[in-house]
Amino acid sequence: MEGPAYVTDALIAEDIDAYLARHQHKDMLRFITCGSVDDGKSTLIGRLLYDSKMIFEDQLDALQSDSKKVGTQGQEIDFALLVDGLAAEREQGITIDVAYRFFNTEKRKFIVADCPGHEQYTRNMVTGASTADLAVILIDARKGVLVQTRRHSYLCHLLGIRNLVLAVNKMDLVGYDQATYDAIVADYSAFAKSIGIEAFTALPISGFKGDNITGASANTPWYTGPSLVEHLESVEVNSARDAEGPLRLPVQWVNRPNLDFRGFSGLIATGSVRPGDAVRVLPSGKTSTVTRIVTLDGDLDHAVAGQSVTLCLADEIDCSRGNVIAAADAPPEAADQFEATLVWMDDAPLHVGRAYWLKLGTQTVSVTVQQPKYTVNVNTMEHLAAKTLELNAIGVAELTTDKPLVFEPYLQSRTLGGFILIDKLSNATVAAGMLHFSLRRAQNVHWQAVDITREAHAALKNQQPRVLWFTGLSGSGKSTIANAVEKRLNLMNRHTFLLDGDNVRHGLNKDLGFTEADRIENIRRVGEVAKLMADAGLIVLTAFISPFRAERDMVRAMLPEGEFIEIFVDTPLEVAEARDVKGLYKKARSGALKNFTGIDSPYEPPEAPDIRVNTVEMTADEAAEHIIKLLMPLK
Ligand code: ADX
Repeated sequence: MEGPAYVTDALIAEDIDAYLARHQHKDMLRFITCGSVDDGKSTLIGRLLYDSKMIFEDQLDALQSDSKKVGTQGQEIDFALLVDGLAAEREQGITIDVAYRFFNTEKRKFIVADCPGHEQYTRNMVTGASTADLAVILIDARKGVLVQTRRHSYLCHLLGIRNLVLAVNKMDLVGYDQATYDAIVADYSAFAKSIGIEAFTALPISGFKGDNITGASANTPWYTGPSLVEHLESVEVNSARDAEGPLRLPVQWVNRPNLDFRGFSGLIATGSVRPGDAVRVLPSGKTSTVTRIVTLDGDLDHAVAGQSVTLCLADEIDCSRGNVIAAADAPPEAADQFEATLVWMDDAPLHVGRAYWLKLGTQTVSVTVQQPKYTVNVNTMEHLAAKTLELNAIGVAELTTDKPLVFEPYLQSRTLGGFILIDKLSNATVAAGMLHFSLRRAQNVHWQAVDITREAHAALKNQQPRVLWFTGLSGSGKSTIANAVEKRLNLMNRHTFLLDGDNVRHGLNKDLGFTEADRIENIRRVGEVAKLMADAGLIVLTAFISPFRAERDMVRAMLPEGEFIEIFVDTPLEVAEARDVKGLYKKARSGALKNFTGIDSPYEPPEAPDIRVNTVEMTADEAAEHIIKLLMPLK
């Protein structure tokens, strides 16, 4: 980011990480400021930085106007100039992310996440709130509780922030009137209760004038509680609470410098540990005893939440990155189906049924999301029916992972309950999520071991299974070419089966249409069927448009390496449309047929197909010959 900067992300990375490591979160409070436009957020943050004199010299250089000379540590900086600078920076950074600012007092260090407040920046707020111990919800005393106040409170509550501060700001502009303040607090209290917020702390302040910021203000003699800074200094932080729970250590890596040493390294998320403690490794459930707690500064006889340690165990049990070491008598659950809240953060909406990466702490698994049960209107808290999740939407849906995930409900543990979803192709983070609970049915379905393996099936047929996956536009010639290839394989005594889009859609998939979600489900099912047939030893040919790269890649990933052969029937749209064998292009152009591939529904051509055939230059038979030649020697 260009332009003036106070404590920006870069500075955090350079200075604060080192700082954090040194102090191990002990006296660090992370908080977020929320509120609507013009409620005085920048002024309040400016006030906190100004009063704590945490203006760094290099940041001043960036801020000051040419004519202005300023000294170090902020003594001489103009308060108004500082606030303007913060507001300008916020504006510049608004679409990028969250601005983190840093200050300290005698008692504590603080990181404040400054996030834009509009609904279109919900994802930014979620980012800022997900690591916060506390939220300051600002209210303009002249305006009272607004829609944004409710939305921000809801999000903070959703993200598990237990310390909420209601800062009724601009008290100077209402003549420090107690009745105004009391009415706002009562109003907020009723709302808070309705969404399950159990407690909050209210304060009358003026960020501009400095009332009740660092000390008691003479202007509000009727208020006897602490000042904002006093409250921030004394409130209990999450890390203190974390230390009380049962032990959870998500394993970051296995430390094995030589055969004599094997340790499991990670950050203790909750609880504490001592040598001699009985532990259980999840998801395997194997138990052992801690023999040593190793750190760079030597062995410890006690370690607590927030510390990075390496644990040595008495037994040689399996334990790798992504596993969780837990108290033996109070382990977390492992499951592969969940209900969760998702906050969608990508411009492209959720694709129901598509496989995404789910990253939860040190665990990464493949996941699919079902159609949301509902989305939440964050302004009214209403539940709405939804087919997908758009940018900034918040919804509840069921998820299925391909491997068991060690987890705890988010409200119990942010570390084991909070996750992100990542697009497998672009690697972009598309959602943040909070696990509610596992679905029991997942635990009751197991893999049954069979004696006749896929190798045994294939050996009897004297062939190697393959999935020849034809993809291309409607009318490109997939079915015709696949049919010609199958005939040749049949003559060569190969055991084959052809799955064709139009046919499968009459039976197995007759409940599916042509929306993106339905096409994804179509390909998922066809992929599963093709895999079963390959397990049975067959050479499977499939002829589906299969317009999305992600699902073709998903099927490839379901099969053993080299077994999936992607064949791109590369017919330009003009050619397929000119042929129009089924008359569908004509219908699509006239508007009588919606969501038609190539017209008003996308086709993503393969970037590196295993085989590509050009039907402009080749007839279907020539294309089939070409494919057979490339497949040989096909055992
Ligand atoms: S896919 O996109 O889900 O892979 P699939 O190959 O099963 O599609 O079905 C495509 C066939 O359905 C086309 O060849 C065409 O005959 C028919 N069809 C009917 N409506 C559409 C549509 N809107 N888009 C594409 N194909 C359609």
